[in-house]
Amino acid sequence: MRHIMVLNAKGGCGKSTLATNIASYFATQGAAVALADYDPQRSSLDWLDRRPDNRASIAAVAGFEDGLRKAPRNADILVIDAPARSHGSELTDLVKHAETIVVPVLPSTIDMQATTAFLEELKNLTKIEKKQAKVAVVANRVRENTLIYDDLDEYLTNVRVPYIAALRDAQNYVRAYTRGIGIFELPEYLAWPDWDEWEPLTAWLRTKRSQP
Ligand SMILES: Nc1ncnc2c1ncn2[C@@H]1O[C@H](COP(=O)(O)OP(=O)(O)O)[C@@H](O)[C@H]1O
Ligand SMILES: [Mg+2]
Repeated sequence: MRHIMVLNAKGGCGKSTLATNIASYFATQGAAVALADYDPQRSSLDWLDRRPDNRASIAAVAGFEDGLRKAPRNADILVIDAPARSHGSELTDLVKHAETIVVPVLPSTIDMQATTAFLEELKNLTKIEKKQAKVAVVANRVRENTLIYDDLDEYLTNVRVPYIAALRDAQNYVRAYTRGIGIFELPEYLAWPDWDEWEPLTAWLRTKRSQP
């Protein structure tokens, strides 16, 4: 089983949005997907509760305190929505559960600053130093032609962690979440710009580059 974790100590950067969409992507590709929610906010589990029966099924894995015992054995991919504010030994423990880590970052000075400290801490973990887990950053909620997006783009280009994708700020994410689906399950005429932006991220996730 592959373990893909969406992680950033900063709250509100899009962890649950990315986790639910990554789960939906692999489910629509025919993989057996489970989604674990380690965040007390339960956004990913709430999304799963909203998921219509006629959509590709995704298994729910309950909170951190339950560990991974409830992950179905036949799952190909476990997507993990991690809690914010994870530092120190809690972060070390979290990272033990994943070989692939996706870090969303918002176009905001506060978020870039917080992410700098977080990536420093992440890179110093033995597991990451030994390349037993691969990390990538993703710009989220970007608006083209804004100065702050230019700043974020430059920041992520220089951060020395692979910068894989930039996802726009779009109501499609809000709409899809509300319906318990991912942007890949929205109609093409609405979601094609988002599908295009996700292509480098899903390509990275499909290849060995995202695995130790
Ligand atoms: N690309 C996006 N476009 C529009 N809204 C977004 C996007 N990504 C996240 N959001 C919204 O931003 C808020 C925070 O996102 P969320 O995924 O809950 O972050 P986290 O799990 O890191 O706290 C939510 O209201 C979510 O719908
Ligand atoms: Mg969340």
